[in-house]
Amino acid sequence: MMEYSVCHIGVDLMSLIDTILSRRSIRRYEQKEIPKDILSKILEAGRQAPSAANRQPWHFIVVDDLGVKNALSKGMFNRFIKDAPVTIVGCAHKDLIAGKWAVISTTIALQNMVIAAWALRVGSCWIGDFDEEKAKELLGIPEKWRIVALVSLGYPAEEPQPKNRKSVEEISSFNKF
Ligand SMILES: Cc1cc2nc3c(=O)[nH]c(=O)nc-3n(C[C@H](O)[C@H](O)[C@H](O)COP(=O)(O)O)c2cc1C
Repeated sequence: MMEYSVCHIGVDLMSLIDTILSRRSIRRYEQKEIPKDILSKILEAGRQAPSAANRQPWHFIVVDDLGVKNALSKGMFNRFIKDAPVTIVGCAHKDLIAGKWAVISTTIALQNMVIAAWALRVGSCWIGDFDEEKAKELLGIPEKWRIVALVSLGYPAEEPQPKNRKSVEEISSFNKF
């Protein structure tokens, strides 16, 4: 993290590349609420994401109720949901775009939120560990929608080391595989 600029809601903002490179999955959180204007900014980053044919096939449930958080955090790898001030449940409409695009578009929107959150010093963690049927019932999600993923949000109470990454040479190539 080297250079900072100031965004118009008055919070120090990291450069985009610093934000992307310094993001870590955060699973321990300060017991501090996320201010409404910060949360709005994060949701706005999702709203502005690209989507196939601009169908915006998503709905985001902002979970901040302790009872709901407790109910969602019963998995092996999602216990920290109950300690996060907010968890976003990313839903995609099954009908809006045939096949994979609704899920891909919703995924992009969630990652926009993850990056925007970190630029605003809010940590996050993607969560694939959820029971979709139980969560749909708990959250009143209509049959036509599916849950793509959950993303917890909160001010970090840990500084995880970077996880190992494959080299650029290993994961990319020019002109053929
Ligand atoms: C689609 C997806 C699902 C994930 N599900 C979980 C999860 O259920 N529980 C968890 O603790 N971390 C989960 N993670 C976080 C990954 O473990 C983490 O991104 C990875 O280990 C790399 O670490 P980093 O995010 O700190 O760079 C998930 C990440 C992604 C992208």
